[in-house]
Amino acid sequence: MDPIDAATAWDLIRRCKARCPGTDDDVLRAGGEDAIRVLPGGHWKPLLPVNAEAHHLFDLYLPLAVQPCYAIAQLGQSLDGHIATDSGHSRFVTGAEDIRHLHRLRALADAVVVGPGTIVADNPRLTVREVPGDQPLRVVLDPRNRLDTGFRLFRDGAGPTLLIRSRAEPEPGGETQRAVLPAGEDGFAPGEVLALLRRHGRQRVLIEGGGQTVSRFLAAGVLDRLHVTVAPVVIGSGRPGLSLPPIATMDQAMRPACRNFRLGDDVLFDFLLSGIFTGRPASGGD
Ligand SMILES: NC(=O)c1ccc[n+]([C@@H]2O[C@H](COP(=O)([O-])OP(=O)(O)OC[C@H]3O[C@@H](n4cnc5c(N)ncnc54)[C@H](OP(=O)(O)O)[C@@H]3O)[C@@H](O)[C@H]2O)c1
Repeated sequence: MDPIDAATAWDLIRRCKARCPGTDDDVLRAGGEDAIRVLPGGHWKPLLPVNAEAHHLFDLYLPLAVQPCYAIAQLGQSLDGHIATDSGHSRFVTGAEDIRHLHRLRALADAVVVGPGTIVADNPRLTVREVPGDQPLRVVLDPRNRLDTGFRLFRDGAGPTLLIRSRAEPEPGGETQRAVLPAGEDGFAPGEVLALLRRHGRQRVLIEGGGQTVSRFLAAGVLDRLHVTVAPVVIGSGRPGLSLPPIATMDQAMRPACRNFRLGDDVLFDFLLSGIFTGRPASGGD
């Protein structure tokens, strides 16, 4: 048989998600043969030859695919830490391989969450288009009830959509589901957003952006994993990626366990933040 290629690898990874093998050893088959053995934590062993691209996909995605419940955030940023220009233009900071990576993260998630600034700037679809995959619930945070519901994802019927606001407001039309959470000065408490999504049966959650939203989830200590892709481009100004409360000395800086991967000309930093991925107790949050 030919070596397992990227398409077959992605198919196996998706099957792994559907089966949720958790901590059990599990053999996945391709073309009628045992293809790989999935070990606890998403480690794996080839039982057939595997080409380099497929190897990369197994390494990157199996740890997520075997995990039935997690919160991951992602950002694609310039070398100088910006995710968009001042005007909000961000198409595209990172290259085509990182865009495909984002679609793979969506496909592995049960829900994809964005802040209102991203809806206003990008009018995104939040669909899985670049790879085969299931469409997650599209979740929009609108803690100040300011968003117009004319944005594309509220109207396109391309996937289930949930709008979370701080006040219930009767509004006409559309198939968008609605939920209400209390909001403070800094918006919704990230842990409460995740708890609400879990009550809706959405256990694997991708926080897709923008910078403020990802930063709030990171600061609250509720993320299990963080993917930051750095592109060799300098914007020099614009909307920041991560932004956390000030610290005085470098020993207070976050230095989580980290893996890195090349995505074309970009570099993906895969930060492992909680015990479900490192085996150590979680850093905080609920
Ligand atoms: N490169 C990437 O990976 C990536 C991913 C996603 C998004 N983006 C880019 O990131 C930018 C958005 O990030 P962000 O940090 O600014 O925002 P965000 O995290 O998406 O949303 C947070 C903020 O949205 C605000 N907001 C701004 N304008 C609003 C409006 N007209 N109506 C309602 N709420 C509004 C709220 O501000 P208040 O506090 O004033 O209420 C809220 O605090 C966009 O330019 C988008 O293109 C990049």
